Amino acid sequence: MTPLHHLRAGIVGTGFIGPVHIEALKRLGVQVTAVCGSTKNARAMAELWGIPEVHGGYDFESMCRSPNVDVVHITSPNKVHVEQSLAALKAGKHVVCEKPLGMNSKETAKLVAAAAKSDRVFAVNYMCRFFPAVLQMRAMVQRGDLGKIIHVQGHFFQDWLLKNTDYNWRLLASEGGRLRAVGDIGTHWIDAAGFILGARAESVFATLGTFHKTRRRPRGEVQTFAKIDPAKMVPYKVDTEDFASVLLKFGKARHGHAEAVHANCAVSQVAAGWKCSLYIGIYGTEGSVQWDFQQPNEIIVGRRDEPNQILQRNTAGFCEDVANFTDTPGGHPEGFPDSHKMHCRAVYEHIASGRKTPVIFATAEDGHHEVRLCEAVLRSSAAGKWVKV
Ligand SMILES: NC(=O)c1ccc[n+]([C@@H]2O[C@H](COP(=O)([O-])OP(=O)(O)OC[C@H]3O[C@@H](n4cnc5c(N)ncnc54)[C@H](O)[C@@H]3O)[C@@H](O)[C@H]2O)c1
Repeated sequence: MTPLHHLRAGIVGTGFIGPVHIEALKRLGVQVTAVCGSTKNARAMAELWGIPEVHGGYDFESMCRSPNVDVVHITSPNKVHVEQSLAALKAGKHVVCEKPLGMNSKETAKLVAAAAKSDRVFAVNYMCRFFPAVLQMRAMVQRGDLGKIIHVQGHFFQDWLLKNTDYNWRLLASEGGRLRAVGDIGTHWIDAAGFILGARAESVFATLGTFHKTRRRPRGEVQTFAKIDPAKMVPYKVDTEDFASVLLKFGKARHGHAEAVHANCAVSQVAAGWKCSLYIGIYGTEGSVQWDFQQPNEIIVGRRDEPNQILQRNTAGFCEDVANFTDTPGGHPEGFPDSHKMHCRAVYEHIASGRKTPVIFATAEDGHHEVRLCEAVLRSSAAGKWVKV
């Protein structure tokens, strides 16, 4: 396999998650050769990280023309993901695109077709798959350790949009897509649940709630999690949901331990006290397993007739399948930045091996499926009934 430091990455978007990608790549030894964004931010980021090429003025086409970029990381807002992904593929680049893949399934379908026609690797950053705990839960389900899976339950809760003065482009359907809480964080939960089960969500029954029908916003662009002076804000009508309850029915898994599994997920960005809690519990005939993103290094295994166990990452409780996706010994915590590093490792090893390693990262098809799922959630909440994805 080509060493990873032979591969060169270009980062598009200089906000919250762009630097998370840079850090992950640098920890893997991948070269970060270019950055694209506003001239001021792109220059500042290049200066901070020692990135040689700056494509300011949001000039993405210029980055695509660069002979010094093999893989483009799209960490810009949702509404430009598809056009930038298509342009990067056309320019012969591999792509790591942030979630959600696009604004609607019509545009993401084009991306699925373009990725299928291309010989480039295309990944969507549903990196929750790469927490060792999630990989371990998946291995347990596949091996049948939990027996036949009966149901799945959980939530993805945050509180950063609790106040009507909290603002981010995600609040506007025109910028982030018609679904906000479900599109932004709910799809992480649904993708992780499907990954663990080895099956896709096939139908949904959802209700959506917008607590703040009117909010206040600053004029101009604001970086994610930035603090803003409320005196400089203007009111606007909110056209995205603050919270949701989603029931899902998953399809049949190839391994035979999960079929027509029922799942129940609550999603909220106005849940006071929760910063970023993706909690998931998988319940089978022989036992259960639970995990929370905020306690990422351990899982709880539950048994009816035996004592429950807490299994810790990188100790005897975690199996061999997880070994390539954890670097520090047990008791030395890994978390959010490491999940990005492990996701990038899986993608870059796939590129470096000439596409020979197994694809366990989310593909364009997986990203498209999540967008279709969001559309089914919208139809279901409008009709008040189960809807097929
Ligand atoms: N996987 C995850 O855990 C995770 C976490 C956070 C965000 N995200 C995703 O990453 C994306 C960015 O989110 P964020 O929180 O970093 O947002 P952000 O607003 O903090 O940053 C977005 C950046 O993109 C830049 N930008 C805007 N238009 C652009 C264009 N046309 N070309 C290039 N750059 C442009 C902005 O100037 C800004 O620097 C979103 O799609 C979001 O859903 C994923």
